[in-house]
Amino acid sequence: MILRSASWLSPAITLTAFLLQISRVCGDADFESVRIKYDYRYMGGRGGDPKEKYWHESVFHPHYDGRFTDHALPYEEQKSNLTLLMQSYLWSMADLGAETWIIHGTLLGWWWNRKILPWDSDIDVQMTNTTVHFLASYYNMTIHSYRKREYLLEVNPKYTDDSYDDYLNVIDARWIDIQTGLFIDITAIRPKEGFPNTICSKDQHEERIQDLFPLRDSLFEGQTVKIPYDYTKLLTAEYGAASLSKTKYSGHVFNTTSMEWERTRRIQPKNSPARARKKIAVGKASEAERLFGKNTFVQDDRKHS
Ligand SMILES: *[C@@H]1O[C@H](CO)[C@@H](O)[C@H](O)[C@H]1NC(C)=O
Ligand SMILES: *[C@@H]1O[C@H](CO)[C@@H](O)[C@H](O)[C@H]1NC(C)=O
Ligand SMILES: *[C@@H]1O[C@H](CO)[C@@H](O)[C@H](O)[C@H]1NC(C)=O
Ligand SMILES: *[C@@H]1O[C@H](CO)[C@@H](O)[C@H](O)[C@H]1NC(C)=O
Repeated sequence: MILRSASWLSPAITLTAFLLQISRVCGDADFESVRIKYDYRYMGGRGGDPKEKYWHESVFHPHYDGRFTDHALPYEEQKSNLTLLMQSYLWSMADLGAETWIIHGTLLGWWWNRKILPWDSDIDVQMTNTTVHFLASYYNMTIHSYRKREYLLEVNPKYTDDSYDDYLNVIDARWIDIQTGLFIDITAIRPKEGFPNTICSKDQHEERIQDLFPLRDSLFEGQTVKIPYDYTKLLTAEYGAASLSKTKYSGHVFNTTSMEWERTRRIQPKNSPARARKKIAVGKASEAERLFGKNTFVQDDRKHS
């Protein structure tokens, strides 16, 4: 259909352009357009984040997307959902022919037992910017099914800006579990200008090309995975040599028979009343009192005894 007179269109176009502009400055896909549940309200940080920031992590936890949930999961549930998230990602990327590999803490988890570190909800993967460009071109906002669950691939439009100055948009894409709000951070690597053999991502991690490539094939959470060529060197550089030998970390101990990180204690947040009570019990009342004030503390203790 050809419109004869389009004069009425121009205000409409201006309005649409204006709305598009708004949606651009406010970042990630709108809550109402992506939500699948109606029993909670929006928990993303859109209101408080700078306008230029695309992703708005939830206000209650930096590794949950507040468009899909209003709470973090308990330890065991988070762990099993992260495993499924990781499997779904590796499986789906292989299916799309999008080359990707694990990096940072996720690679450290692989090093120990081919699994995600159970205390870490931050999952990191990399791909080249050509692959991110491919996903942005054909798969932005697509839903992928894996074992009856659904995952969203969302690409940050700022992936085309490779400058470190764009520090609010260092994550180029995300693989999001729309059931739980958990996600995987995808960063693109690009050649670093003026530095031969060096690649960088916007989160300012820089690696030598020969440490990354050729990628090796392995298994992670039961799925085939690619890992950087000189993983030992990368891990030692990032976390120190002790990260490859220390079998106690963050309330977990590595059992060399079961090859699992087993939880040794429930971690109390630093200032929790429970932690302060424990300190009283071992005769360190003064420190606990400094934390909470004597009166608060005595009341709290009585209530629980
Ligand atoms: C994921 O979390 C949900 C709670 O939201 C829980 O019921 C489920 O057992 C967890 N694990 C898996 C693999 O779904
Ligand atoms: C990848 O990054 C390089 C360096 O910034 C740039 O020259 C190239 O055009 C990018 N490729 C794509 C597909 O965006
Ligand atoms: C992907 O889609 C979302 C939602 O429409 C949009 O905000 C974003 O700019 C898109 N990303 C790219 C790379 O086009
Ligand atoms: C380590 O794992 C083995 C095999 O599952 C188990 O028998 C053993 O009790 C574990 N060790 C500790 C200290 O928990």
